[in-house]
Amino acid sequence: MTKEYKITDHTYDVVIVGAGGGGLRATLGMAAQGLSTASITKVFPTRSHTVAAQGGISAALDNMGDGDNWRFHMYDTVKGSDWLGDQDAIEYMCRNAIPAVIELEHMGVPFSRTKEGKIYQRKFGGHTIDYGEFPAQRSCAAADKTGHAILHTLYQQSLKHRAQFFNEFFVLDLIMDDEGVCRGVIAWNLEDGTLHRFAAHIVVLATGGYGRAYLSCTSAHTCTGDGNAMILRAGLPLQDMEFVQFHPTGIYPAGCLMSEGARGEGGYLTNSEGEQFMERYAPHVKDLASRDVVSRAIQIEINEGRGVGPLKDHVYLHMEHLDPTLIHERLPGITETARIFAGVDATKEPIPVLPTVHYNMGGIPTNHFAEVVNSTDQNPEQVVSGLMAIGEGACVSVHGANRLGTNSLLDLIVFGRAAAYRAKEIISKEKVVKPLRPQDGKEAIEKLNRLRQAKGSLKTSEIRLNMQRAMQTHCAVFRTQDHLEKGLKKIKDITVSYQKDIQLNDRSMIWNSDLVEALELENLLQQSLVTIQSALNRKETRGAHAREDYPERDDVHWMKHTVVRLKENEVSFSYRPVHLYTLSTEVEVIPPAKRVY
Ligand code: FUM
Repeated sequence: MTKEYKITDHTYDVVIVGAGGGGLRATLGMAAQGLSTASITKVFPTRSHTVAAQGGISAALDNMGDGDNWRFHMYDTVKGSDWLGDQDAIEYMCRNAIPAVIELEHMGVPFSRTKEGKIYQRKFGGHTIDYGEFPAQRSCAAADKTGHAILHTLYQQSLKHRAQFFNEFFVLDLIMDDEGVCRGVIAWNLEDGTLHRFAAHIVVLATGGYGRAYLSCTSAHTCTGDGNAMILRAGLPLQDMEFVQFHPTGIYPAGCLMSEGARGEGGYLTNSEGEQFMERYAPHVKDLASRDVVSRAIQIEINEGRGVGPLKDHVYLHMEHLDPTLIHERLPGITETARIFAGVDATKEPIPVLPTVHYNMGGIPTNHFAEVVNSTDQNPEQVVSGLMAIGEGACVSVHGANRLGTNSLLDLIVFGRAAAYRAKEIISKEKVVKPLRPQDGKEAIEKLNRLRQAKGSLKTSEIRLNMQRAMQTHCAVFRTQDHLEKGLKKIKDITVSYQKDIQLNDRSMIWNSDLVEALELENLLQQSLVTIQSALNRKETRGAHAREDYPERDDVHWMKHTVVRLKENEVSFSYRPVHLYTLSTEVEVIPPAKRVY
């Protein structure tokens, strides 16, 4: 049966799956060091979801004269993570933020500028000076289109360094050998319907998050966490999947992002009584508390009847008191979004907003070199040879239980860069890439073929909607055992309905979006299953995981990473210690403390 598919084989030093910010930073870094580098991407690189990142990339450059320092950045990130972040990796990220952002500037990223011509930096939630004393201006911004500016520059740089691009190729699965070493990937060229196997010394997964498991999210339709699902199918674990970030200000009702930069520039939230309610929840930094805190506060206001609108199901974000010139210069993107999606002139009226799924803290476990880790009881730091992961799909873990705004673009750039350095160290010039075996990729082709012929009764879109509704209802800002159990049952039933009842109408191989969406849905379902089960398993409240039935953080039992595996729809758990140590003696471990803003 697999004979009817034409397969082309390729060999590269490195294959990078995904061409968002992390993927492209790794691609250009590897190509620039002389490694033969292939970037495989299901959308054209500049259409990757990084293009939608708005408010900025954090780095303690101290361009605004507030005395910023990478140690303050590290403190804020550890506290933001609710002490689930690995402190060695956080130290690495916050220190390297400075050279990594300066490199971006030199590559040509068109950052906004101060009067002196330095990179402009704005305030963002959870970022402070002097260990929580007052808000820091740390977010390096290109108006409110920072991701767009960075992504385009990285793509140009990758072309300059002659990386090879395989655009609109959908990667079906990893190719692993019998020793558990990653040898390559198998992919489908959407344009001409051919299949391709890529052999490489190293495969880097830069495939992003899985926001589309939910009904309302700021993520693009392409955010289906394909790499995470490949990891599960390879028998490898994911980490901390219960931690799903809700951004406080998705526009109501569409869910598009209204950057936290709005509050960084002086915007604020109000309820139906016109009250600036964040003063009650975070008396010190108010609207600039971290995201989990602000999202919960909004949800409580709505739950207690102080939401706005006919259904009292959202709140208002105000920018109309700000100078219109500032709004047009620094927040043009969200001003346009408010006009298109809410019919609101942000210079004159408040914008309706509500918490919306935005980011996955969990993902593929890695160390701070971006190498994938297959944690075992004997060796929690066991590295998987030939495999790296970066970006939202990875869990380094620098964000722990809650990511600070602007640390995502930073994570992409710092660890994309780290992956390039590490790959160069690992790959020696003399070694040849091991050829693939005839049977490699066969299972993935058989699955593709089965799905392509599926004649069930339910369309992909129907099954997907059922999943998204279940996740949105049962695995949201606030969680309880009973509610999660009901959600788990639904996700299990929906998974079975996918396996038994899916119907495809397009049987072709060329630009078969019906088949792409069915493959993406399988990926989303596998991640939904491990997410909701991990949320049930963790019996405490930490960061974005708010259990109403376990309202306190429990460091004695739960200061540990969840390591989750999936085999034939069955989930199993183990744990990996949080790294409560630093890389250098230039900074001290930040001891666990109660998290107040
Ligand atoms: O609000 C924002 O601009 C989002 C930034 C981020 O998620 O890092």
